[in-house]
Amino acid sequence: MSRAPDLAERLLFQEAVTLTERAYAPYSSFAVGAVAVGPSGRSHHGVNVENASYPAGLCAERAALAAMVVFGERTLRYVAVAASEGRDCLPCGLCLQALAEFGDPEVIASVGGEVRVVRLSDLLTAPFAGAGETAGEAGR
Ligand code: THU
Repeated sequence: MSRAPDLAERLLFQEAVTLTERAYAPYSSFAVGAVAVGPSGRSHHGVNVENASYPAGLCAERAALAAMVVFGERTLRYVAVAASEGRDCLPCGLCLQALAEFGDPEVIASVGGEVRVVRLSDLLTAPFAGAGETAGEAGR
């Protein structure tokens, strides 16, 4: 279900690690950085942005996804996600659903202390696809 990253994927993960320094996570102290990559190969950055009203907080993956869409890309190829201090962090269920809207990217993340690559559809086998629409195509 998961595999070791190649060099390019390892670099994307390192980019996500660097981004954790810009996270705004004063409530959980769990800083997360994410990089979304679409067809252009360009990196789109996100960090988690927490809020005093906890549910108003935003995960790093959805911040990166929004940056990609703002740039004009609507197909995800890769999503790298990293937490500070080498902690494991796979996308949460809400983020998996949000990401599935824009394709079936490879997710690059630390699992059991190792950087691994796993296909989104292996993490979320049955995304909600809306009324008659197919996840990954609805936004195109
Ligand atoms: N968080 C992310 O940014 N991405 C994830 O995949 C899991 C959790 C954030 C949300 C919150 O700011 C903090 O990590 C602790 O849950």
